[in-house]
Amino acid sequence: MSLYQKLTKPFIDIFVLTWDFNLFLLNLVLPAHEPTDVIPAGAPGHAGHWPQYVAPKDSDSRSACPMLNALANHGVLPHDGKNITFRDLNTVVRQSFNFAPSFCFFVPKFAADFLGRSYWTDRFDLADLSKHNAIEHDASLTRHDAALVPDQGRPDLQLVDELLSGATGKMQDGSPQLTKKDLSLALAKRRSAARSTNKSYTESFFHNGFGSANSSTMLTIFGGRVKDLEPMLTEERFVDGWQPRILSKFGLTMAAFNGTVVPVEIGVKRAKVE
Ligand code: HEM
Ligand SMILES: *[C@@H]1O[C@H](CO)[C@@H](O)[C@H](O)[C@H]1NC(C)=O
Ligand SMILES: *[C@@H]1O[C@H](CO)[C@@H](O)[C@H](O)[C@H]1NC(C)=O
Ligand SMILES: *[C@@H]1O[C@H](CO)[C@@H](O)[C@H](O)[C@H]1NC(C)=O
Ligand SMILES: *[C@@H]1O[C@H](CO)[C@@H](O)[C@H](O)[C@H]1NC(C)=O
Repeated sequence: MSLYQKLTKPFIDIFVLTWDFNLFLLNLVLPAHEPTDVIPAGAPGHAGHWPQYVAPKDSDSRSACPMLNALANHGVLPHDGKNITFRDLNTVVRQSFNFAPSFCFFVPKFAADFLGRSYWTDRFDLADLSKHNAIEHDASLTRHDAALVPDQGRPDLQLVDELLSGATGKMQDGSPQLTKKDLSLALAKRRSAARSTNKSYTESFFHNGFGSANSSTMLTIFGGRVKDLEPMLTEERFVDGWQPRILSKFGLTMAAFNGTVVPVEIGVKRAKVE
């Protein structure tokens, strides 16, 4: 971070949190989107019409984030995953997943800061986001640790299978659903496995919180639906007709998201592994 970034950061953070809380309140009073009309007209994915999925080539840049990779696989972000502006990332994430604008500014700004770049003018490749212990951390649900598998851009199918086969919930149509409890247990298992395979495995309150936050999107944005999560986590692909399960007018705020993340992280502490 430059000196300028360090000096302005506290003001920006306070601004974003205030903005976020106001959107949280507005969401309580404004009418929600229709489930079939969450993504704005004109944006890719509107009414569930996603551009065609094309699997990534070896030369394409991909990140440790399944959902951003899916955007590139469908060409919503550039298919090669390269030379993306932080500002475009903001817009695309907001439109595609119905995350609140406060969140969609906060995370790309956070990424620009840890890469030492300007949010306003600079660009990145998806793989840049996987910088170890910035957002990327050990004990992820869909990736082995960076020391074991340096390329964090591809999912580990066995880990994904372990996660999804642990789903104990049921949708109304009887299909499996991942619950908060399932997610807490899966995170606890991964942290325990990482600890036992590597003595120098790093874990911090900070990264555990990120881990819970990142994976809680499976419960909020995806409503825990294994049918949608399976192609998303294995092929990093949107199913036909997919739309965000968060319907609120201004999208998922950090304040509302907290209501899922905090119980998941508390559940990890309580989960008994082995
Ligand atoms: C806004 C920009 C975003 C950035 C910069 C970002 C970045 C990242 C990074 C670096 C990771 C790897 C963390 C790890 O080591 O496990 C990650 C994981 C994850 N992200 Fe994102 N992400 C973004 C948006 C999203 C959105 C919109 C969703 C969901 C709709 C999402 C869902 C996930 C999930 C589920 C994981 C966990 C994967 C795992 O545990 O293996 N992310 N993200
Ligand atoms: C990235 O995109 C910008 C704007 O289109 C272009 O000027 C620049 O040359 C590109 N950089 C690379 C490395 O492709
Ligand atoms: C993922 O973790 C990062 C922290 O590194 C956080 O800023 C971001 O909000 C999280 N993303 C999601 C989608 O929860
Ligand atoms: C263990 O973790 C540390 C810190 O992340 C890393 O430097 C080291 O290479 C890892 N060793 C193995 C065998 O995974
Ligand atoms: C989420 O909850 C934590 C702990 O209660 C709090 O410190 C944090 O400020 C909250 N974040 C938001 C965006 O509300």
